[in-house]
Amino acid sequence: MGNYYIGLSVTYHDPALAIINGHGEVLFAEATERFLQNKRALNCEPDQLFYLPQLLGDYCPDAKTVTIATNWRKQRPLYENMVERLGILSASGLLKTGLKKLVSPLENYQLHHKMACQHNAITKAGLNLVRVLREQQPRCHIRFADFDHHLTHAAMACYSSPFSDAACAVIDSYGENGSLAFYRYRNQQLHCLHKSKGFASGSLGFFYMKLTELCGFSWLKGEEWKVMGLASYGKLNPELYSIFEQLVTVNGLDCQHPKQDFFANLAKLERFKRSQDQAIEWAADCAYTGQLFFADKASQLLNHLGAVTQMENLALAGGCALNSSFNGHISQRTAFKQVHIPSAPADDGCALGAAWLAYHQAVGDDAKPPRRLSPYLGAAISDASVERLKHYNRSLTIEHLPEIIGEKTAQQLAQGKLVGWIQGRAEFGPRALGNRSILADPRFAATQDHINANIKFRESFRPFAPSVLQEHGDDYFEHYQASPYMDKTLTIRESKRDSIQAVCHIDGTARLQTVEYAVNPRFYGLIQHFYQLTGIPLLLNTSFNVMGKPLVHSLDDALVVFMGSGLDVLVVNDYFITKARDE
Ligand SMILES: [Fe+2]
Repeated sequence: MGNYYIGLSVTYHDPALAIINGHGEVLFAEATERFLQNKRALNCEPDQLFYLPQLLGDYCPDAKTVTIATNWRKQRPLYENMVERLGILSASGLLKTGLKKLVSPLENYQLHHKMACQHNAITKAGLNLVRVLREQQPRCHIRFADFDHHLTHAAMACYSSPFSDAACAVIDSYGENGSLAFYRYRNQQLHCLHKSKGFASGSLGFFYMKLTELCGFSWLKGEEWKVMGLASYGKLNPELYSIFEQLVTVNGLDCQHPKQDFFANLAKLERFKRSQDQAIEWAADCAYTGQLFFADKASQLLNHLGAVTQMENLALAGGCALNSSFNGHISQRTAFKQVHIPSAPADDGCALGAAWLAYHQAVGDDAKPPRRLSPYLGAAISDASVERLKHYNRSLTIEHLPEIIGEKTAQQLAQGKLVGWIQGRAEFGPRALGNRSILADPRFAATQDHINANIKFRESFRPFAPSVLQEHGDDYFEHYQASPYMDKTLTIRESKRDSIQAVCHIDGTARLQTVEYAVNPRFYGLIQHFYQLTGIPLLLNTSFNVMGKPLVHSLDDALVVFMGSGLDVLVVNDYFITKARDE
């Protein structure tokens, strides 16, 4: 009979569930959007009623005690804090503050909706889990724990890192009380150095959401990525930069919105806003200027953290840690030499952070030191499901090729074929890291258009990422540093750009994944075969989904993409699948 710690991320967007056992081993971690195939799974429970029996049966079959840990303090729901501190929503739904000059009734309702959804998510957290545990294991003892939101981000960053000693920064949109938190991590303990307090304090996360809106994209749909891609096409607009400076300032480890003329300055941004009938390129200077401003402010915060801690190791989390463009510059712009960003630095990762904190709280000094965490923690697609498909399908050619699957797939890639590549357990976090990936030959620029036209149907200005064998990283990238979770954007050496045109962005950069044999031997082996055939030790790697949908979860999800797109080959574990028309 065992003890288990089940973490739930319950912040309305990006719910997730993670399971740790009594030995501190991470058994499972997955964002809810994958099972539901519903991007970001807004307003959905992380403990899905129909999924839980399988998860608990697979990972907690002998539960004696289960601790259900959430990533938000229950005492002060955000909704109540917002109402009280800003007076945004009175009983009649009208605004009380100066915001009413700027916030329309519709925006007021949107804010009300978001806060009410979050309140709902926090207050009903774990209800489904308790029901299924009671049904499956009636004698199991159930406990509850709730943790400070930014502490769960920090736990995810530090316990998943290779460090025993590090400074930790959480740069987020908001928590129970503010947007920033800084910690010292040593001997598996997190000591809080500073937390920003009050909603009047500034937020770089909110700034980036505003920037996303200005560029004509939707932060609700998670389109901050598009701002980063677009920024490479723009140049500095000094007037816009100076307005940004009047909206957010950094002071030590704090970020502030200056009170004087704040709303007047906010209103000045309106004329920089791209409308939907304007071309995306119209917002390129805005994207560039905003990205530069974000990087400047984040650098100021991290430089101060470096001065306070005198550390060379940095663990970084919070929604802003998804800014791979900035992440690639941290070691040049600050005193931090090693920078770890977990595979899931945003709120989905908090599920695992909460489970880890519950485990540490329960076992105290007996906690096992964390091992380097694999990002492959989600669901797998079984061989049995492919065998069933083989039996019933009438339109696909399915070959079982365990001896030569890597070699044969590499040959197809070298011939310009587009390959859906599914192996083992899915990645925890937003990036496809070689287990739920669409892969292609990176050598030719035309491949970008080919993928966009046949599979991804996405905007042409967005770059594709390379996955490179770790030992070749320095040959291809300036200021090379490991980027195991596609967490950093680096500059491709000028001499190499022509040889990998499909993954070279307009400004010569790429958001790379460094692939290590010990972490993913099958993916490493595939790239190695491609290297032997072409002399290029990297592949174009994009997520196995279509625009607007999450990464595929089941074999059926993968087949829908495969059959409904121009993908040439689908590889699932050792099975090589082609369409009949290719025969
Ligand atoms: Fe967060």
